[in-house]
Amino acid sequence: MWRASVLTIFPEMFPGPLGLSLAGKALAAGVWSLDVVDIRSFATGRHRSVDDTPAGGGPGMVMRPDVLSRAIDAVAADERPRLLLSPRGMPLTQGRVQKLAAGAGAVLVCGRFEGVDERVIAGRGLEEVSIGDYVLSGGELAAMVLIDAGVRLLPGVMGASVSCAEESFAGGLLEYPQYTRPRLWEGQPIPTILLSGDHAKIAAWRRHEAERLTRERRPDLWGRGTPGAN
Ligand code: ADE
Repeated sequence: MWRASVLTIFPEMFPGPLGLSLAGKALAAGVWSLDVVDIRSFATGRHRSVDDTPAGGGPGMVMRPDVLSRAIDAVAADERPRLLLSPRGMPLTQGRVQKLAAGAGAVLVCGRFEGVDERVIAGRGLEEVSIGDYVLSGGELAAMVLIDAGVRLLPGVMGASVSCAEESFAGGLLEYPQYTRPRLWEGQPIPTILLSGDHAKIAAWRRHEAERLTRERRPDLWGRGTPGAN
């Protein structure tokens, strides 16, 4: 079973959307497990504070290393990577998601406030991961994104269709346009080639469209070259 452990000060956020749809069915079926650790339950003192003011001054609050480390240490030490969701991290890619899905799971630490004390990042070997170049109010949604992307790749969750789709993204191309009935909708027909029954021509058209969309929308992906070479 693929195991996700999430450390957060908002445990009520979970499973949230991960309890529904594909991920929720797989969770109920025991394909993966979710254990949620409330960081605040490791705080001491009357106020149970998990954060404090930044050394050196400045705005916001910083997550305390003593409280967070106790929460991390309460999760069984095993071979799973320990990730800290943070806009400062290395960008999450489909390739990284595939590697995570192939492993035992992940321990996901959700940052809040202005940041996490640097010493706990180093001291507990946390690897910072970002889901994109924008700033969320905390790591919880990012952890859900990572788990959702990983769980759908687990054996039996999506069936055969996933491997093909994933190869195409890992191959560096965006998906080609899709159509379904009716044949004519608001004056727009389905491209006739898709109704021709000529599978070679359809494959060539789809490839051409995927390349066109990738060039237009994602010159960064296109510039990486070798589309289709995985
Ligand atoms: N926490 C806040 N913003 C984030 C981002 N973009 N990725 C991961 N974690 C975050």
